Amino acid sequence: MRSLLITNIGELTTHSDEGTRTDAAMIVTDRVEWIGPATSPHAADEIFDAQGAAVLPGFVDSHAHLVFAGDRAAEFAARMAGEPYTGGGIRTTMAATRAASDADLRSNVARLVDEMRRQGTTTVEIKSGYGLNVPDEARSLRLASEFTTETTFLGAHVVPPDVPRDSYVELVTGPMLRACAPHAKWVDVFCERGAFDVDEARTVLAAGMAEGLLPRIHANQLTEGDGVRLAVELGAASADHCTHLSAGDVAALADSQTVATLLPGAEFSTRSPYPDARRLLDAGATVALATDCNPGSSYTSSMPFCIALAVRDMRMTPAEAIWAATAGGARALRRSDVGHLGIGAYADLMVLDAPSSVHLAYRPGVPLVKEVLHKGVWVR
Ligand code: NIG
Ligand code: FE
Repeated sequence: MRSLLITNIGELTTHSDEGTRTDAAMIVTDRVEWIGPATSPHAADEIFDAQGAAVLPGFVDSHAHLVFAGDRAAEFAARMAGEPYTGGGIRTTMAATRAASDADLRSNVARLVDEMRRQGTTTVEIKSGYGLNVPDEARSLRLASEFTTETTFLGAHVVPPDVPRDSYVELVTGPMLRACAPHAKWVDVFCERGAFDVDEARTVLAAGMAEGLLPRIHANQLTEGDGVRLAVELGAASADHCTHLSAGDVAALADSQTVATLLPGAEFSTRSPYPDARRLLDAGATVALATDCNPGSSYTSSMPFCIALAVRDMRMTPAEAIWAATAGGARALRRSDVGHLGIGAYADLMVLDAPSSVHLAYRPGVPLVKEVLHKGVWVR
């Protein structure tokens, strides 16, 4: 494979033994091959002069719902006029998604993945959860797997209007799971009042695990429930949202391998209090940041936006937020080949139109991601 020398890097963040360096250079193929000072002479097939810009690992967006049709702008406008968010709009998107063609769904995923790439995201997780019947959940995962290996079966998003509750849990843990498991790596459940209670969530995750899927969970988003405790009990890779946590939840996360994935786009878009990342970090928990990109609670594809919110409103330092959006996301997906730029990692990185990564939070809303490299290939 062709080698690429990236030189004159003003600030290189690696999240690895290579540390954070100034005046650095690196050689990559599809993987990171060498890191050293910009002054040391090195040959490569191609040279890119970063001209003093910051380079950092590509974002790992470990939580996104991209397979859907339509939007819910009217619901957002109503919320901004005072209506609460309940998750009930999921059924509106379900109807639009079921009615859409494969081609329309595929092109919507492609559009959003492209948006993400242009904003520095090089790894994305994609969930089902707007089909809510066997053919449409399986179709959602088939389409998702055209774009990523990080696919998540979320048949247990809400109970659809056309099926009684008990039989829906049986469907999700039986025929739907069998149709979806071949296209999924993960199993997820929305554990929340109005969606699935903790016993139903345990049943769903246990069934998925028995089918070879790995557990993750939507937990403690709208209320303080038992979802986080369930995640820790099952050794889930990640408990996502974590907006309402008891002291016991924080301690349980800190004492576990379960990542607390915070999704500030959802609090922004539902005008809710943000999760307290500082409390989690000070307790010793591992924190990831992700977009939760979906048409209801968080229609943003922008990791830089989430970083800015996390720094401004969740008491994270810029360095912590950038770690959470890269290495943290990789931990939440149990990946060691992305989220950092150590030797041997995938050459997934971005070049900023800024001298340091702090600018991602310091200059919110400004398109600072200038170039993105994915597995050694420029994508913008
Ligand atoms: O993560 N909370 C559950 N699921 C999504 C919202 C889905 C929707 O409102 O369409 C979330 O916020
Ligand atoms: Fe979500």
